[in-house]
Amino acid sequence: QVIDATGLLVVPGLVDIHVHFRDPGFPDKETIATGAQSAAAGGFTSVVCMPNTKPSIDTVETLEYVLRTGREQAAVHVYSSAAMTYGLEGTELTDLDSLKQAGAVTFTDDGRSVMDPQLVYAAFQKAAELDVPISSHCEDHHLVKGGSLNRGEVSRQLGDPGIPRLGEELIIARDILFAEETGARLHIQHVSTARGVQLIREGKARGVKVTAEGAPHHFTLTDEQALTSGSMAKVNPPLRTREDVEAVIAGLADGTLDVIATDHAPHTLEEKGRPLAQAPFGMVGLETAVGLTLTSLVYPGRLSLMDAISKLTVIPSAIMGLPSGRLEVGLAADVTIIDPQKEWIVDSDKFKSKSRNTPFAGMKLKGKAVWTMVHGDVVYNEL
Ligand code: NCD
Ligand code: ZN
Ligand code: ZN
Repeated sequence: QVIDATGLLVVPGLVDIHVHFRDPGFPDKETIATGAQSAAAGGFTSVVCMPNTKPSIDTVETLEYVLRTGREQAAVHVYSSAAMTYGLEGTELTDLDSLKQAGAVTFTDDGRSVMDPQLVYAAFQKAAELDVPISSHCEDHHLVKGGSLNRGEVSRQLGDPGIPRLGEELIIARDILFAEETGARLHIQHVSTARGVQLIREGKARGVKVTAEGAPHHFTLTDEQALTSGSMAKVNPPLRTREDVEAVIAGLADGTLDVIATDHAPHTLEEKGRPLAQAPFGMVGLETAVGLTLTSLVYPGRLSLMDAISKLTVIPSAIMGLPSGRLEVGLAADVTIIDPQKEWIVDSDKFKSKSRNTPFAGMKLKGKAVWTMVHGDVVYNEL
């Protein structure tokens, strides 16, 4: 087959190190197969799944189930993180040695930061010993409890108690100190506040082994989105204000935020249709990430195209030590073709994901993944 790629970008397959594929436990939201279809349609050839499934990915058995299902049913490479504590409850450390042996690429407190300092300390020590990065969700759940949106003008207007920035920043600061103390590699997920970005910048300057990610919704939208999108704009950590968005963009531009990751978090329309306070947090992101990266960052001149592609490919791959990040002669190719000029309107009915929870529906984007090859097989093609 000959492909005319005139005017198109041929890049290494994109890598998303933060997705929620909901299997086992919530097949109505997403399965590993449908999540992988969504990834392929978004140009992603490798993903790292988060363990807030049911049961959570806290035993070798469940981890092996996810990896096996990925191999058997997914159109893309499926890697997995493992829960740092049983049930993600923060009371007892999981068997990190065995989970690493079984293929976990990172340990995480996913969605519910471990609060007991003894336990956090032990987890960081173990992660340092095993040289496995810790992916930290960074949220003090005592502080953020009860809120749905960033605490500010909009939350007050909508009668929501609000989520203070401090709830995120306290744990970012804490975890950077634990990483500094133990030598563990720390990866901070979905950074949303200006001071959070600054804490990471300072940690890096001190030589702490800390990396971090920015999510498309956090570099594109502010909390005002909730005024029109309601619970579709409800996500953890919340959409913040213009100043925070600018800081996340600046952090991506100066390398403080190493990676663009989607935090693809599918939920059913029934759940998202509930009143704001009762609707779950999260939005799908795999199929809009390329468009948002080009539209919000590259076309406005905030991030070079090369940096954008690196943050979606080689950098996340290297952080998680994925084989797809290796350049080896004879390795079957993971390749993505992006049409940078393609203008399109987000239509959530067309998503390959099982879920449609996005605040970007109807938004006009410029740039789209149009062809995806995984291990030498074409898994998505709209050329
Ligand atoms: C995620 C989910 O739904 O699993 N939700 C979210 O708002 N981001 C959990 C998480 O990453 O915190
Ligand atoms: Zn999270
Ligand atoms: Zn997440």
